[in-house]
Amino acid sequence: GNVVRVGLLGCGTVGEAFAELLVERLAAVEDVTGIPLALTRIAVRDPGKPRSAGIAAELFTGDPYDVVKAEDIDIVVELIGGVTPARELILTALEAGKPVVTANKELVAAAGPELYAAADRGGVDFFFEAAAVAAVPILRPIRESLAGEEITRVAGIVNGTTNYILTRMMGENLAFDEVLAAAQELGYAEPDPTADVTGADAASKLAILSSLAFNQSVAADDVPREGIVDLDRVDFELAAQFGYVIKLLAVADRFPAEDGGPGQVGVQVFPALVERDHPLATVRGSFNAVFVNTDAAGELMFYGRGAGPRPSASSILGDVIAAADHLQRGTHRKVPVGAPAAIRPTEDLAYSFYIR
Ligand code: HSE
Repeated sequence: GNVVRVGLLGCGTVGEAFAELLVERLAAVEDVTGIPLALTRIAVRDPGKPRSAGIAAELFTGDPYDVVKAEDIDIVVELIGGVTPARELILTALEAGKPVVTANKELVAAAGPELYAAADRGGVDFFFEAAAVAAVPILRPIRESLAGEEITRVAGIVNGTTNYILTRMMGENLAFDEVLAAAQELGYAEPDPTADVTGADAASKLAILSSLAFNQSVAADDVPREGIVDLDRVDFELAAQFGYVIKLLAVADRFPAEDGGPGQVGVQVFPALVERDHPLATVRGSFNAVFVNTDAAGELMFYGRGAGPRPSASSILGDVIAAADHLQRGTHRKVPVGAPAAIRPTEDLAYSFYIR
């Protein structure tokens, strides 16, 4: 087929990792999929800034419209993050008929339905696998492999920064600030780590996961959340003494109505005591794990690196390949999200308790 030309918005930690991975994998991707990709342009705030040796200097531009409106760009990858100007740029690209791939969970959680509708109007894909649980393929399995299933629960550990912090505070008796600094250095934390430690990042991911799993729209602001900032040393000591570890859990349950209607959705992010032998207790460091309960398949577990530039780049590359494949076939996959959900609290999980 024709070369599919990729334009990138943003070249921060994740953007750079993606650009490098794409360039590194071009030949292998064509071998495996038959799709020739090219990295054609990268829009950044400061095109003069020194960049990674793996990315050609002439690719950089200071004008993002030189990507989203350009004739010679087929797919747009948005890795600027945040709502403004990412939302505007993505809408422009979709309306111009260009598929968009993003890792922007804040934006998808805040403005998902608007973007899905724009993609559908443009007749193109809008993919965001890296917005939830970085490297772990979970949105595509929910949207495709499990599209015929009835999903009843999505629950697990969906933030790498807090899991890394909790793991080290639990195991090494280190102070919060010390381990947060290490998480930032490793590229796990959001630019403003408040989003991680207050549970806001997990709430955004849970909103994305539950919206797709239950085919009802859950906004990040709908998710009651408590982060890990108020945990004390004594919480960790008591947990250990009684055979538990502390984990930041994100839980979404679907409670169907008696008449088969959409019913209610229970969502919550909270620090929990998890039994030491439960599989979630063994999820350490930047790893994440999500359990999906379905009617026919029963319980599924998705596990892998939930944060970090290169794991995120892996998800983004997978999305770009899927979008390129659809583009060449002249098709796209609609994002299935229904009406706003009626939200209620979650029920207790059998293996964990709320700490307070
Ligand atoms: N800050 C996020 C985390 C990065 O720690 O999980 C991946 O979304």
